[in-house]
Amino acid sequence: MATVTRRIGLSLGADLCWPICYEEILKRLDLKLPIGGDQVGFEVERVTIEPYDLRQKCRYDVVLDRLTHWYGMSREWIKKAVIMDGLYVFNNPWAIQSMEKHTSYCAMMRMGMPVPETWMVPAKAYEPKPDLEVTLQRYARLFDLGEVGRSVGYPMYMKPYDGGGWQGVSRIEDEGGLRGSYEQSGTHLMHLQRAVDPWDRFVRCIALGPQTRVVRYDPSQPLHDRYTLDRDFVSDDERSLLEDMTLTINAFFNWDFNSCEAMHRDGVWHPIDFANACPDSQVTSLHFHFPWMVMANLRWSLFCAATRRPMRLNQDWAPFYEVADSSLPYREKLRQWAAIAHQRYDTRNFLSFCETHLPDLESATREFFTTEVAKDAVRQKVAALYPAHEVETFTEFFWDRIRQWRESPSGEPIAPVPPATASVVTAVSVAAPAPAPAAVAAPAPAAALEAPPAAPAAKRPRATGVKAAKKARAAATVEHDAAVAASVSEAAARAARTLVRTADAAKAPRGGKQA
Ligand SMILES: Nc1ncnc2c1ncn2[C@@H]1O[C@H](COP(=O)(O)OP(=O)(O)O)[C@@H](O)[C@H]1O
Ligand SMILES: [Mg+2]
Repeated sequence: MATVTRRIGLSLGADLCWPICYEEILKRLDLKLPIGGDQVGFEVERVTIEPYDLRQKCRYDVVLDRLTHWYGMSREWIKKAVIMDGLYVFNNPWAIQSMEKHTSYCAMMRMGMPVPETWMVPAKAYEPKPDLEVTLQRYARLFDLGEVGRSVGYPMYMKPYDGGGWQGVSRIEDEGGLRGSYEQSGTHLMHLQRAVDPWDRFVRCIALGPQTRVVRYDPSQPLHDRYTLDRDFVSDDERSLLEDMTLTINAFFNWDFNSCEAMHRDGVWHPIDFANACPDSQVTSLHFHFPWMVMANLRWSLFCAATRRPMRLNQDWAPFYEVADSSLPYREKLRQWAAIAHQRYDTRNFLSFCETHLPDLESATREFFTTEVAKDAVRQKVAALYPAHEVETFTEFFWDRIRQWRESPSGEPIAPVPPATASVVTAVSVAAPAPAPAAVAAPAPAAALEAPPAAPAAKRPRATGVKAAKKARAAATVEHDAAVAASVSEAAARAARTLVRTADAAKAPRGGKQA
């Protein structure tokens, strides 16, 4: 049995807390996994920035990247390593470069998702460029902003088409406000989007590979308290709908890690921000949910490294469009898109990997989050964001949230409905952390299409005799997978429960009645 080492690179920016936790928990796990006749161990390193020869081999199997969307040197190194050395990286640099918020809205609209009415308007001002003047004089048509405003409807939000971190976002109540905001929008290319208003619930669905976590989000709170500890704020059906929406968009764009925002009004969940290329990963905003994110990151990256998961380079939208263009009801379309997502994320093998090789991850994580090393990681992040006189108060505040996570058996939010928003520290002023930089817009690379995967759904063949026995065995496996998956996420659990059905469906003829 050969001993091999898979090397994981962390390509980091201002991240402080989660990398420390990731490295420490991995060290504690001391993994030596029997995989494919080898004994597989892992090393984790922080990727440095330095000159490189384009033909130089990449030393990593997997890179967890936090820089691609704004730092060219790292992005271009990653692109070279993916093309030349078969590196697996998340998130996919091409998907991020070409898929800003605008593109994600277009994809969601193309698939029939209820994105609020959204318009794009030309920029108010421009940086001087040689041919700009003549181009605008010839082709830019004068337009009536008031008329555009009436088409969108009030209240609305003006926001950069490629934005992030609430930068440049304003709420507009009427035409006067629209004119004022447009005057101030400078060179930003802006969307005008009808507000979901009034809304009764706002969620963020965090996803890492096939793992999901739906969290109620309260944008009216200070930054440290927006991710709530609520539970039972969505029904099971709503949760599965939100997870399906999230996995659909992530698989559509080849995103491994994303945080998707949806708002609920009158029985409909409207996606408003599904393009977060560098999802919030800091303890100072995730607090209670932070250990889940660290574990999810470990599970997914170890799976990718250990199994040498091939990077999916091209986007293949045809199967999604095929479902979109069918006559199925919207909810059924979402189920089928999610089934495509689970195929692409290899959910079944992922669950079995977690069960076989990472049974101790959760207990190791719980134990780690009692240590001084963990508390110091929290303190370091707090110290980087808060004024000196608030560092201890907020370190204790976030540490206490993690304690609450440790003490909740399933790691699920513990607050009963409705939210308990008041906290001892809400009166203390919070230094707003630097917002996540905007996703970079760049032309989409020409993408060759891959062969589409098996059609996700079709008629279920009847099981008889030997087939029925096989089916029963498969169902037992799936029950088992579902139990493992439950600790990973609801979405994965559901995927495990439906795997028999999906496998059957893939064998069955296309175009039949839906299972
Ligand atoms: N259509 C909308 N309806 C209601 N609130 C919105 C809408 N769009 C944005 N917002 C509010 O503005 C915030 C920032 O907008 P968002 O689209 O998430 O941009 P960013 O990418 O900068 O986070 C959201 O968290 C939400 O509170
Ligand atoms: Mg947002």
